[in-house]
Amino acid sequence: MEMTDINFTNRDIISITDFTREEILYLCQKAKMMYDLEKSGQRYKFANELQNRSMAYLFFEPSTRTKTSHITAMRELGGMSDGFSGIEGTAVKKKETIRDTIMMVCANWFDVIVMRHPVDGSVQWAADVASIPVINGGDGKNEHPTQALLDVFTLFLLNNETLDNINVGLGGDLSHGRTIRSLSLALSHFNGVTIRWAAEDFLGMPDDLTPLLESRGVTVVREKTVEDVMAKVQFYYMTRPQLERMQGMSQEDIVKMMQKYRINLNKVKDHDVKLMHPLPVNSEVAEIDYRVYFDKSQGFFQQAENGLFLRKALLYEMLKHEGYIQFNGKLSPVLEHGNNRLIRKSKKNDKEGKRFIDNIANGIVVDHLKPGTEQKIVVGLDLINRGTGIIPANLPNIGKSILKTDLTEFNEREHKIVAEISPEPTINYIREGKIVDKFVYFLCRNSNCVTRVINEDVPPRFYRDGEGVMRCRFCRKSYNILNKKASEEEKQEFLQSLPQGIDPV
Ligand code: CP
Repeated sequence: MEMTDINFTNRDIISITDFTREEILYLCQKAKMMYDLEKSGQRYKFANELQNRSMAYLFFEPSTRTKTSHITAMRELGGMSDGFSGIEGTAVKKKETIRDTIMMVCANWFDVIVMRHPVDGSVQWAADVASIPVINGGDGKNEHPTQALLDVFTLFLLNNETLDNINVGLGGDLSHGRTIRSLSLALSHFNGVTIRWAAEDFLGMPDDLTPLLESRGVTVVREKTVEDVMAKVQFYYMTRPQLERMQGMSQEDIVKMMQKYRINLNKVKDHDVKLMHPLPVNSEVAEIDYRVYFDKSQGFFQQAENGLFLRKALLYEMLKHEGYIQFNGKLSPVLEHGNNRLIRKSKKNDKEGKRFIDNIANGIVVDHLKPGTEQKIVVGLDLINRGTGIIPANLPNIGKSILKTDLTEFNEREHKIVAEISPEPTINYIREGKIVDKFVYFLCRNSNCVTRVINEDVPPRFYRDGEGVMRCRFCRKSYNILNKKASEEEKQEFLQSLPQGIDPV
């Protein structure tokens, strides 16, 4: 197939949904070129292409494959790499923020960053801060786009170089891993894709993922057993239980839960199915029996090697043109504030407003709090020790709490603390007895989102994704406005004010 050149210079690689079908196919074809060169003894054909270019690898979480194959890919292209694996030995141990780590990397003139971090959306935040392109090497349980690209590249090789009309089974831990999300979203770019899966509810497809895939044209079917899945698919993609993301679960609990879903000789013997796994396999849980794992007809290590071809192609495409961006030491002003305030119109003689401001001339009234949360907010904002006048009130008859304080302003951290304790508070700023600013403060509901890490100071930002759907810019989780007090008109006005899709900062 003829390939039209696609320019990846200065492109961040954050989510597989940022790619078009053409871009995925283009990268598969470029990776196939790297694969063919290596298989025909011409591995060094691109050995000087990225001379004088450098990659920073920032792995806040463990990795063998993702880190090594990015470093190897860079070396094979003539570039160099430096960075860290684990936060021991870095200033993160001294409470340095992600933003500051990224600014330091940019100040040291790297050309590209690959980053893995346990917090969802952290890599989007890094990309917003950085003046150079950033590759997501895995953010929390959110996404792992280069894994998805290498997985679809593997399917591309195994399926006569097409990704349409493919039938894939998913197994293991679909809920806590990021590879399932990224792979299934990658496949959603193609036609006639069917995904079948079988797992316990706790390890099943994330609630938001199936409707998202279906809205993108994928058929998603939950089957009763792994055998039911295997009987109907060409490829079966198994994953490791992500124990590090399951608070309160022991390995024993998981072994029991996965017993029926492990891949053993019995399950594969009657089915003509090619197994895949992003690796590593948990050698204690053994979600794939070692006799299957080391069976010569399976290609787990070939799949991992494909990661090298794919990352070589990706880094080459991202860095082949001069893209030097001089470091200016400044953060984009866009990142100083969020776009998460739904402005409420305060009507003249508004009865509700009047009632709240009766005994407050200058200060803040926090309204529509979840009943009983007012004292938690007093503690969360340390209001007693700050010597501010406060009136917390629980009003069970009208099903809410309120809090009045004579503080003149909350900073962004304080707004977040309030919204973490009680989602969607209405904040009223009062000057000389009048409400001068009244807004509902939205904060992503994903408790592992980077916007919820208070000292990272990430301004909550949302974007519109199609009709009426609002998503967090960072972790990309959808957000339905629950607030009953804001009018339909105010909600629509707010939604219309959001950017349509993700724009680079
Ligand atoms: N598949 C994968 O991401 O492996 P690592 O955790 O070893 O990078």
